[in-house]
Amino acid sequence: MSKLKSLLVNICRLLLALTFIFSGFVKSIDPLGTQYKIGDYLEALGLAGVVPEWVQLGTSIALSGLEFTLGVLILLAIQRRLVSKITVGLMVFMTIVSLWLTIGNPIQDCGCFGDAIHLSNTETFVKNVVLLFGAIVVMRYPLYQTRFISQNNQWIALHFTIIFIFAVSLLSLYHLPVFDFRPYYIGQNIKKGMEMPKGAKQTKYKTTFICTKNGVQKEFDESTYPYNDSTWVFVDTKQEVLEQGYEPPIHDFSITDDATGEDLTEQILTKEGYTFLLISPHLEVAQDRNFGNIDGIYEYAKENGYSFYGLTASTEQGIKHWRNVTGAEYPFYTMDGTTLKTVIRSNPGLVLLYKGTIINKWSHNDIPTIEELNAPLPMLTIGREPENNTWTKILAMILCYILPLVVLIIADRFLAWSKWVKKREMWLKEKEEWLIKHEQSTKLYQLLKRKRQMRKKIVAGNWKMNETLQEGVALATEINDALKADKPNCDVVICTPFIHLASVANVLDKDLVGLGAENCADKEKGAYTGEVSAAMVKSTGAEYVILGHSERRQYYAETAEILKEKVQLALANGLKVIFCCGESLEEREANKQNEVVKAELEGSVFHLSAEEWKNIILAYEPIWAIGTGKTATSDQAEEMLAYIRSIVADKFGKEVAEETSILYGGSCNAKNASELFSKPNIDGGLIGGASLKAADFKAIIDAWKK
Ligand code: PGA
Repeated sequence: MSKLKSLLVNICRLLLALTFIFSGFVKSIDPLGTQYKIGDYLEALGLAGVVPEWVQLGTSIALSGLEFTLGVLILLAIQRRLVSKITVGLMVFMTIVSLWLTIGNPIQDCGCFGDAIHLSNTETFVKNVVLLFGAIVVMRYPLYQTRFISQNNQWIALHFTIIFIFAVSLLSLYHLPVFDFRPYYIGQNIKKGMEMPKGAKQTKYKTTFICTKNGVQKEFDESTYPYNDSTWVFVDTKQEVLEQGYEPPIHDFSITDDATGEDLTEQILTKEGYTFLLISPHLEVAQDRNFGNIDGIYEYAKENGYSFYGLTASTEQGIKHWRNVTGAEYPFYTMDGTTLKTVIRSNPGLVLLYKGTIINKWSHNDIPTIEELNAPLPMLTIGREPENNTWTKILAMILCYILPLVVLIIADRFLAWSKWVKKREMWLKEKEEWLIKHEQSTKLYQLLKRKRQMRKKIVAGNWKMNETLQEGVALATEINDALKADKPNCDVVICTPFIHLASVANVLDKDLVGLGAENCADKEKGAYTGEVSAAMVKSTGAEYVILGHSERRQYYAETAEILKEKVQLALANGLKVIFCCGESLEEREANKQNEVVKAELEGSVFHLSAEEWKNIILAYEPIWAIGTGKTATSDQAEEMLAYIRSIVADKFGKEVAEETSILYGGSCNAKNASELFSKPNIDGGLIGGASLKAADFKAIIDAWKK
């Protein structure tokens, strides 16, 4: 449907554009002809003599130029919305005018195509109705008009068009119309132009005679005319066209000698040799700037035996005025003003006839000079009919206007195309970059995932001060058996009080469950009553030790320095350290968690060598979540673990940080474990309360299987 709409709009637009361009152009190249037509309209409106001629001429040039420019704007789809509205406005006006012409017939030819095409008033009206319809269609859907030139360069086309059409107008005004559409073109034999072809239909007229008798007026036709009744006094005649017959192109060329009343037409048109006709419809307003050249030609004609006549519609007074101003001695004959205006668009203008054929025409600005007339006419180029140069003129128009416009459009399209290509290239590049980035990030993600998979996933139990020896051994046995039956997907460690270590070690399958202590002394050995050294822990078969637990910091005043010693001794004795850190509730509420955790790590483990670091497992345990049933949300935990990994990376490098297992501890249980473990930075849990029941602990271990 929209395709059909677009087709219709573009057909209408093309029709309007071509009509406007053609009609604007043919009027622009004949500014005087258009001015005469404006004069006809003014006369029909009863405004003859009201508007000065120069205003009429200005209006003629402006209107024709506007029409041509509008046509080009429509053709190139420039300012589509505005132009379509102006077009409708113009067409409404023209349709109304043509309707008036059709009904009232005040003017025979509307003049819309200058002298190029003559339409009857009815034809003009129909044409305008069609164009009005087209204009309305275009105005309804202006944006369906396909653009030929981008908005950026439209102004160039617009200004170029305006300059071109006014230049053409002014040139035609100064010289003569570029193309001559009237019957008095160069090469026309006037007598031939007046001939009726054999068998051509004659126009039939009806003549009505108006007579009066005793104050009574009556109309008669030829058959009823009262020839024998002299009491009827003749008043007037009326002539109506009954049937339009053939009308020769030249039908009103008649030269009269006013002094004698003699018709000289035949005599002049059949004259052998050359005849100069100085044409001036109105001598009173004729341009007398070049009278010297005119007089020179008259002298030249006399010398060479050529005829020279002035033809005018002016009265004796006008002729006198001209003779006074220019000293003209050549004879003046009378001819109809409209015919004179049709013969040549210049006042005055010079026409050269040879045996009744027009062989040259000059505007008063181009009249040949005496210097040019230095030989008899047959020997001069101006004495011969010039070759038909219509095609040269058309070519000149193409070169001057159409070609630059086409070049502009091609350049514009090329620019638009290259812009589009560039944009597309950029878009493709961006897309490619995005894909690479995306792929990279996917790769990075895969890498992280792999790294993460490389990192040990650990679930460690922290029995704290619970279970007797027997209970502990039983619990350890149960856990061991459960894992034996269903292999875990992660490392499992149970950290027990010192007294359990040796016995529990005996019931555990080392490959399934690791064993760890909950503490060790900050001294190597010696007189430290009640203490258990790292070496002693190791000797039980344990491989891990929890250090830095908040409960030890809180209740046993373990400082960063003490912990540093313990870490050092544990590592020295071949134990893996599960080092705990975490903030209190007040510290979190004061948003100091990062600061606190960083200080704890810096105080006790960040001094280690990269080699020593390999045996460090970190456990983030927010104090407010330990044993309280208040778990940190998985996002909170993830955020902190990511932060811890980043500061480890700052300290030991990205690679090391990626390989460090970091656990979360604090009310971790069978329900929340899988959610917590799904986070990329959480590598497992340090489980307190939930590690005291084999089933609960097993369920947390199994969270890694989900
Ligand atoms: P919880 O203790 O799991 O009972 O909160 C954890 C811990 O202190 O390690």
